Amino acid sequence: MGAVYEALRAYAKADPLRLHMPGHGGHSSALGALSPVLPLDVTEVPPTGDLLTGEGPFAAAYDRADRLYGGTTVFSAGGATLALQAALFLATRRGTRRTVLVDRRCHKSVLAAMVLLDLEPVWLYPEGDVLPLRTLEAAAEAHPEAAAAVVVSPTYYGRLSELHTPLPNGVRLVVDNAHGSHLLLLGRHPFLAGADYVVDSLHKTLPALTGAALLHCRDTREEALEALRLFGSTSPSFLIAASIDLCLDYLEGEGKADLLRQTETLRALRVRLAAHRVASLSGVEYDPARLTLFLPGGAEALRAALEAHGIFAEFSDVDHLVLIPPLTFGEQAAARLEEAVTAALPLPSGEAEAALPPELPQALSPRAAYFSPRERLPLPLAAGRICAAPLYCYPPGIPLCVPGERLTDAFCSWASTRFDTVWVTRSS
Ligand SMILES: Cc1ncc(COP(=O)(O)O)c(C=O)c1O
Repeated sequence: MGAVYEALRAYAKADPLRLHMPGHGGHSSALGALSPVLPLDVTEVPPTGDLLTGEGPFAAAYDRADRLYGGTTVFSAGGATLALQAALFLATRRGTRRTVLVDRRCHKSVLAAMVLLDLEPVWLYPEGDVLPLRTLEAAAEAHPEAAAAVVVSPTYYGRLSELHTPLPNGVRLVVDNAHGSHLLLLGRHPFLAGADYVVDSLHKTLPALTGAALLHCRDTREEALEALRLFGSTSPSFLIAASIDLCLDYLEGEGKADLLRQTETLRALRVRLAAHRVASLSGVEYDPARLTLFLPGGAEALRAALEAHGIFAEFSDVDHLVLIPPLTFGEQAAARLEEAVTAALPLPSGEAEAALPPELPQALSPRAAYFSPRERLPLPLAAGRICAAPLYCYPPGIPLCVPGERLTDAFCSWASTRFDTVWVTRSS
């Protein structure tokens, strides 16, 4: 069992008189159904150690994680969001290079890191649903001033990117593997492929509490923890940390057998759905543990129909319905889903939409634009102005326009089908 989990259990069992944070003191009827976990909800007391310094049981927990991934791995209780900010700090802290090559499908947390760290993006646009390796390599070749490149793999839809290191000009590769923690079990984890920084959002696809994430790097543990301390809360949840520890047990134990069973169940389900003309994204270039149904014009109707059957999806856009089946997803759940999908047929259909909005020129750095005096304008009046705050739908949290980009007519008419207004800088 994980060292952090064991330490929390031992502390709870000793029935200590808790005169420290958190204020529920380990027992409180005020927290209703949450009461059973309160004895385990502890922060930094000597027996339970310190997530942010790696002391106490965290030393053993981090040693084990280092062995599992082959580098330095630390725990984030602030999700992949915190881990990505820490990764970008580490990847850009040395030297004077402030440029980063960024997959245009990056999550808003990467944008927040760029604002906080004053990084200048060079946007990398995908072709279809993939960011080709040659695009990444050509950008690193063309931008010797870049400190790092950020790639999202897998995407929300489960599309994997080909990765290769080292990149030209010493550009460091940061992979947002938020959706791919389980790829370790298939030998397809980006850190094994040589990436310099990888972030896993364990809670997205593995058994772990919401907020559980990992930062993998090739810096020292002290450097990695310093980066977490720069952005994160001084009171990280040890419940989340213990769930990370238990999740690593699972990855070393029954996780692989579960994943193989789950992916086989999904493979067979995809075939059955295809017989009903319900297409899904699959093949070696897709995450086999993700079920993304591709239904141009019909995905949102299917989502609503599934909800009427008590089945809740992760996310849908006009063309895709993204389902994240847990690794315990088996035949019974597959049959329930299949029945609900087929009951919803036929679905409305239409033309597939472009994945990303029209490209925009970057006129100011994200930080300069974000900190500028701003005003809110109706989208039809915003063409020609500089964006001051991102527009995004959540999920997936991909910024559609980024602070510093000059908005165009084409963008504003595209965006006005989704939003009414946008923040722009006053001086633009
Ligand atoms: C690609 C990607 N990266 C990062 C994140 C942030 O993850 P977290 O919610 O663990 O902070 C998300 C969240 O949806 C995401 O989709």
